[in-house]
Amino acid sequence: MKVLVVGGAGYIGSHMVKMLVDTGHEVVTFDNLSSGFRDAVLGGVFVQGDLADVAALDNVFKQYQPEAVMHFASYIQVGESVQHPDKYYLNNFTNTLNLLNAMVKHQVKHFIFSSTAAVFGEPEYVPIDEVHAKNPLNPYGRSKWMVEQVLADYERAYGLKSVCLRYFNAAGADPSGLLGERHEPETHLIPLVLQALSGRRPHISVFGRDYDTPDGTCIRDYIHIVDLCSAHLLALQKLMEIGESMRFNLGNGEGFSVQQVVAAAERVTGQKIKIVEGPRREGDPARLVADATLAKKVLGWQPVYTDLETIIAHAWQWETKVAH
Ligand code: UFG
Repeated sequence: MKVLVVGGAGYIGSHMVKMLVDTGHEVVTFDNLSSGFRDAVLGGVFVQGDLADVAALDNVFKQYQPEAVMHFASYIQVGESVQHPDKYYLNNFTNTLNLLNAMVKHQVKHFIFSSTAAVFGEPEYVPIDEVHAKNPLNPYGRSKWMVEQVLADYERAYGLKSVCLRYFNAAGADPSGLLGERHEPETHLIPLVLQALSGRRPHISVFGRDYDTPDGTCIRDYIHIVDLCSAHLLALQKLMEIGESMRFNLGNGEGFSVQQVVAAAERVTGQKIKIVEGPRREGDPARLVADATLAKKVLGWQPVYTDLETIIAHAWQWETKVAH
């Protein structure tokens, strides 16, 4: 299949491009390189362009005529989204509309959308299933939820079919060692812990120890990047097969606290890390754990790297490669 991957030079997008190419698909990556890296795109065609540039987008659709679109190009920092909501609504919402409008114009009807656990806000119960109430707490989560709602309208009006995949905590790296997490600045727990262990950072700050959890630190559901990408591939196949829009939560269904992640990273690397106690980070729910039963049932998704130490070991392989 010919797939347009928007944001294919970023962390998740680049792993997706590799998986699509490795499984025999034709890939066109469209990325403005604002946070992605050209050398992370390991196959297919690369077009540097911005979703705000409607003419460039139009050209890509005209020239390559994709059958489906995967959209990974968004800003992802919750804290920044509170400070600069304009940036988040412009890119994550308005620019996504440009992409959807180009799809409608060129009659491309299959769309895989990167959504987030942040659409749920503070959970009313865990694990969180797909029907859980959507009460995003910040512009980041709201921008993603707005797109999800627009997609329902676009389906009714234009017949555009979509799969929204709500990621919990994407982590790890391709086991080949060819790709990994490269955010600038890095804000995610696992890469920060590993950077502290490799000597690239002096310490790790634990953001709050007074949460209502067994050790007082926040609990998250970490999902291996390769398992996340395999869910996209299955979602695309299912979407083409049945032509029905779907929404899935993607996680392992098991939560680990910040303290447990630090301990696991110390076990994997055999080194000790300096921990600095910090205040709570604004907008952090105490516990986010996915109920991914539906993805397993409908897509036949079977995550392979469910073990936290394996996720960390793959991320460590990447960290040791880039740290030296
Ligand atoms: N944390 C620390 N110290 C750090 C960094 C993080 O203690 O230096 C803690 C956070 O407070 C949180 C946990 O580690 O409790 C995980 O934090 P991450 O930043 O790695 O991930 P988040 O759970 O905040 O974010 C993830 C995605 C976001 C998405 C969000 C949904 O990365 O894109 O889930 O809530 F919006």
